[in-house]
Amino acid sequence: MKKFSHTVNWSVLSQEELENNDLMLVKAAQEATAGSWSPYSGFSVGAALLLDDGTVVTGSNQENAAYPSGLCAERTALFAAGHAHPGKAVVALAIAARNKNGFTAQPITPCGACRQVLAETEQRGGKPIRYILYGTQGTMIIEGGTDAILPFCFGADSMK
Ligand code: THU
Repeated sequence: MKKFSHTVNWSVLSQEELENNDLMLVKAAQEATAGSWSPYSGFSVGAALLLDDGTVVTGSNQENAAYPSGLCAERTALFAAGHAHPGKAVVALAIAARNKNGFTAQPITPCGACRQVLAETEQRGGKPIRYILYGTQGTMIIEGGTDAILPFCFGADSMK
């Protein structure tokens, strides 16, 4: 028998402790929540991607009366970036979310479907994505790349 383990490291930083790029991306994610169409959940999510040339691409969740037809903020941003900036690697993703009481105290993390898209985005770009997940009580930073949040991922290599 062989045993393995998977370790995830993250840190939680106050607003004052955030480095400039991370703070800039958090602000972009917060602003992106303004574009959310979320009449069904009342939950507005904003995502901001940093590309390897410094470009920032944002997205927000877009809901639909036919619920499964909607899309999360993260994939809205990822597909917009893939379309408008093919060939540029995504190097960081910031997420912010608010409900009727304001921005959430705890950060939210990407859903499983978004993690799957993030995994392929990271593979295409060839650079680990830095996660900057905003909450009013602290911002969570995950530096391990997408493997940290989606271990045992299915990808193109799985079909070889
Ligand atoms: N949502 C996102 O946009 N991103 C996440 O990471 C989690 C959930 C959206 C989907 C739906 O519009 C609303 O939040 C409630 O699930």
